[in-house]
Amino acid sequence: MSISTHSVPLPRHYPEFVKTLPRLEGRTIAITGCTSGTGLVAARTCGELGARVLMLNRPSERADHALAVLREAGINAVLVPCDLQRFESVRAAAGALERTCPEGLDVLCNNAGVMGLPDRATGDGYDIQMQTNHLSHFLLTSWVWPLLEAAAAARKEARVVNQSSGARRGGPLRADHLAANGGKLGGDGFPGLDKWRRYQQSKLANLLFTYALHDRISAERPASGVKSLCAHPGPTHSDLQVKTTRDGGTRLIDKLILWRTLRVAQAVEDGALGLLRAACAPGVRSGEFYGPVGRGQPGPAELLPPERDPKAERLLWDASLSATGGVDFFSPR
Ligand SMILES: NC(=O)c1ccc[n+]([C@@H]2O[C@H](COP(=O)([O-])OP(=O)(O)OC[C@H]3O[C@@H](n4cnc5c(N)ncnc54)[C@H](OP(=O)(O)O)[C@@H]3O)[C@@H](O)[C@H]2O)c1
Repeated sequence: MSISTHSVPLPRHYPEFVKTLPRLEGRTIAITGCTSGTGLVAARTCGELGARVLMLNRPSERADHALAVLREAGINAVLVPCDLQRFESVRAAAGALERTCPEGLDVLCNNAGVMGLPDRATGDGYDIQMQTNHLSHFLLTSWVWPLLEAAAAARKEARVVNQSSGARRGGPLRADHLAANGGKLGGDGFPGLDKWRRYQQSKLANLLFTYALHDRISAERPASGVKSLCAHPGPTHSDLQVKTTRDGGTRLIDKLILWRTLRVAQAVEDGALGLLRAACAPGVRSGEFYGPVGRGQPGPAELLPPERDPKAERLLWDASLSATGGVDFFSPR
C-alpha cells in the first residue's frame, strides 16, 4: 500500500556500511517492531551476521510473515509476542525472554513505533503514542535488565538501543504526557497539530530515557558493561506513514507533514543504519546517539552531539517508573 507519489528510493549507504559490521555468532538480539521498516532490516541484517534474533512483535499476519521470511533466509529467528499497547503483554514478553535467553541478552533494540495517532487512551490509560513508543520500552528494559547484565558478564558488553526521531525536537518534556491522561492530551481538533506534538513527546522520551539510563549505569553499575544508546533514522520510506493515514491521518495538515517527509525520505535500509551502528558496530560508547545530522533530512548515520537536559531526564525517569509500576532497574528481583 502506498500513500506517496514519490518513488521508493534505493539504498545508498547500506551496502557499504554493512560490510563494516562484525560477525555476531553467539549473540542474541531482541528487536521490537520488526514486521517491517527499520526493525525488519535490523533483524535481517543481524541474523545474516550470525546472531539469534528474537522478534518482539504483536501477534498478526505481518508478524508471522516477517518470521517466515527470515527463517526462509536461514536466519535463527524466534517470535516473541509483545503488544506494546498493553503493559501486561510486555511483562509476558519479558518473561518469555527470561526463558529463551538463559545465556543472557546481548542487545535490546527498542525500535517499534506509531506516529500521529488520534488522542486515544490505551487500556492502561496512557496516551497511545507515549505508551507504544516509550513507556512500554521502559518497562521491557527494566524487566530484562538482569539478562543484559548476564550477557555483559559473559561476553564483555551488552547494549540497549532506543529508536528516536528527528521529530524529538520541538519543546520540552511535559509531565502530563507521561501520566494516565490518554484521550485528554489536546484532542484532534483544528488544525490537528496535537497528534504530532504527542508523537514529538514520545520521541523526545526515547532520547531522554537513553541518557537517564546511561547516567544510572555510570553511577550505580559502572562495571556492568551494559551500554545505553540512541538512534534515529531520518525521514525513511517505511510502513509508518501508511499506518498514520490508515488511523485517521487524512487532514490537510497530516497530508502535508507526510508529503514533506516522503519527499526527502531515504530507503528503509539506510534508515536502519543508526540502529545497526548503535546495536552492532564496534567501538560505540554508552550515551552515544547515531543518526543523520540534518533536521528533517536523510543521510548516513553519524555520531551526533549529545542533547542533555538533566531536569527533563529526571522527570522522565520518575514518571516512567510510576506509570509502569516497573521494578527499578538495579533492584533485586
Ligand atoms: N520512517 C520514518 O520516517 C521514521 C522517522 C523517524 C523515526 N522513526 C521511528 O523508527 C521506528 C520504526 O518505524 P518504521 O519507520 O520502521 O515504521 P514501520 O515500518 O511502521 O515499523 C514500525 C514497527 O512497530 C511495530 N508496532 C507498532 N505498534 C506496535 C505495538 N503496539 N506493539 C508491537 N509493535 C508495534 C509495527 O508492528 P505492526 O506490524 O504490528 O504494526 C512495526 O513492526 C519507530 O520508532 C519510528 O518512530 C521512523
